[in-house]
Amino acid sequence: MSATPITVLGLETSCDETAAAIVRLTPDDAQASGVRGDILSNVVLSQIELHAPYGGVVPELAARAHIDHLDRLVADALAEAGCKLEEMDAIAATAGPGLIGGVLIGLTTGKALALACGAPFYGINHLEGHALTARLTHDVAFPYLLLLVSGGHCQLCRVDGVGDYALLGTTRDDAVGEAFDKAAKLLGLGYPGGPEIEARAARGDSSRFALPRPLIGHDDSGCDFSFSGLKTALRQRAIEMQPISETDICDLAAGFQAAIADCLTDRCRVAIKEFSPSAKDTGRLIVAGGVAANQFLRHALDGVAVEAGFTLTVPPPALCTDNAAMIAWAGAERLHIGSAADAGLAAPARARWPLSENAL
Ligand code: KG4
Ligand code: ZN
Repeated sequence: MSATPITVLGLETSCDETAAAIVRLTPDDAQASGVRGDILSNVVLSQIELHAPYGGVVPELAARAHIDHLDRLVADALAEAGCKLEEMDAIAATAGPGLIGGVLIGLTTGKALALACGAPFYGINHLEGHALTARLTHDVAFPYLLLLVSGGHCQLCRVDGVGDYALLGTTRDDAVGEAFDKAAKLLGLGYPGGPEIEARAARGDSSRFALPRPLIGHDDSGCDFSFSGLKTALRQRAIEMQPISETDICDLAAGFQAAIADCLTDRCRVAIKEFSPSAKDTGRLIVAGGVAANQFLRHALDGVAVEAGFTLTVPPPALCTDNAAMIAWAGAERLHIGSAADAGLAAPARARWPLSENAL
């Protein structure tokens, strides 16, 4: 293991955020995690306005926007950190999973920068970036449980170390953020749907509509999730209500959000039970991904954690949603433990790449 600080430039282009960041990892035995993280710069350009008229991300538009902005964002990240490219100990870029056009742009740019400055290149699994963020922000030691809830992902896994992830459950259909986005569209609300639904739900009555809680009570479903039946039930109700009033929309949003909360908390309860009972006193449940911004869900998840003697940790919103600091950090963690740069410059771009296939 290296004992000197490691500085890494990270790039993220797998969906609709173009991002560059510089992160420093300093080995520190006084930390529970053994490492200290400092974000020297973290530049994110959201493409939400570009995709909003379409109600979802348009892959080709996303890729073109990444090309237009990435070089400038890298220059901004270096300037903000007061660093030169030659000072980087490694370059890390998301190599998947994600929209392949965007992934290729960040990956190719990262490889070119690594060649230019002679630093090793790490093709990072985007999910590993989310999985390790809490160590950058909250000094979290392994092992811990991770609930990853975003527009593209919904999974529960056990994080035992860098590159050591056990998938406990995943969605059988929609990701939870995707379910929020589709529900919002059904109710005539804007994109992204999560914040729109949360705002309406705060004014609604969640008990007015009895919406289904898919997979809850199915013992054979482990920690898996399913949201398409809930979405269909919502559509059915919305059709029956036409013409739909603002009160109806708020009540439907509240019912939908409450059903999602029940699904997430139930699955987390199962995962916590599967987590080693001996680790209970120090058990941690980390929630990451854009949906973690939802205060109602956070409160519900906090209840589950407290009830089991666990601590709920949620990285700050800017590091929960897609960003490059998490990619730089994953690269730094890999370099720190002496992991070779995997495929290095030969790292392929992958549209699909399960976290469990990410061993060192
Ligand atoms: O992690 P993220 O920024 O991007 C990826 O999908 O990777 O997550 C975006 C997702 C969107 O589906 C959005 O609707 C959802 O996170 N989201 C929320 C909230 N804020 C964002 N979902 C529920 N409640 C929110 N407050
Ligand atoms: Zn993400």
